[in-house]
Amino acid sequence: MNTGAAGSVQTILIVDRIDTFYGQSHVLQEVSLSIGERETVCLLGRNGVGKTTTLRSIMGLTPPRSGHIFFKRKDIVGKPPFQIAQLGIGYMPDDRRIFPDLTLFENLELAHRLSSKGKTHWTFEKIFHLFPVFVDLKNRKGTQLSGGEQKMLAIGRALMKNPELLLMDEPSEGLAPLIVQNLVEVIARIRSEGVTILLADQSLKFCRKTSDRGYILEKGSVQHEGVMDDIWQNEEIVKKYLVL
Ligand SMILES: Nc1ncnc2c1ncn2[C@@H]1O[C@H](COP(=O)(O)OP(=O)(O)OP(=O)(O)O)[C@@H](O)[C@H]1O
Ligand SMILES: [Mg+2]
Repeated sequence: MNTGAAGSVQTILIVDRIDTFYGQSHVLQEVSLSIGERETVCLLGRNGVGKTTTLRSIMGLTPPRSGHIFFKRKDIVGKPPFQIAQLGIGYMPDDRRIFPDLTLFENLELAHRLSSKGKTHWTFEKIFHLFPVFVDLKNRKGTQLSGGEQKMLAIGRALMKNPELLLMDEPSEGLAPLIVQNLVEVIARIRSEGVTILLADQSLKFCRKTSDRGYILEKGSVQHEGVMDDIWQNEEIVKKYLVL
């Protein structure tokens, strides 16, 4: 875990041996992880290993059947997603869930209205500064935005709710290399504003550029964890579990 100038960093999220099911199907098996304040951590692994399910478990969308999830020392298992969001966890789902008939600006406005307790760290101005392309796109409807633009909007919308911890599902998936590079910079800027990030992504290259540490999942359990440079250099682990 990152240690800042003051020494040890506070842990913001602890996932403690969670088991999550879809019906009878036992998907996550004793998954544990922890994230320090202001860290960026990634969940890595191939298709179907449980990355999305881990994020959904934290967000309360598919709550675990056993285990604990502590956000700022409070156990959040069993709380509904809207309460978890109000506590300060933002979520960018992999399917983006943009409102197709609302314009980009209206999508952001709606998120702003739903933001908790009138906190205003992420103003419209700040979001437009983070994504300069929004200036030209602000009156476009959701359906008229490209996949990459929708991803940016989904990030902007999650930030509008002023999360302390931002969960991002497959941010780099399907994006052209230039857009991915832009996203790496966007994530660095979000981090510099003090937001802690947990992202799930299949791309080891992208995770190396964005994250401090990583957890590797396979068949619903954590197989390996480490700092990103160590994972990157570990040929055996890369071959066994990951996609470059
Ligand atoms: N709604 C669902 N109902 C039943 N099984 C599901 C459901 N969603 C996911 N699964 C199963 O749970 C397992 C984990 O899926 P999950 O979506 O968490 O994987 P993932 O690592 O995010 O994969 P990907 O890289 O493809 O997004 C898979 O075997 C998947 O088939
Ligand atoms: Mg997924």
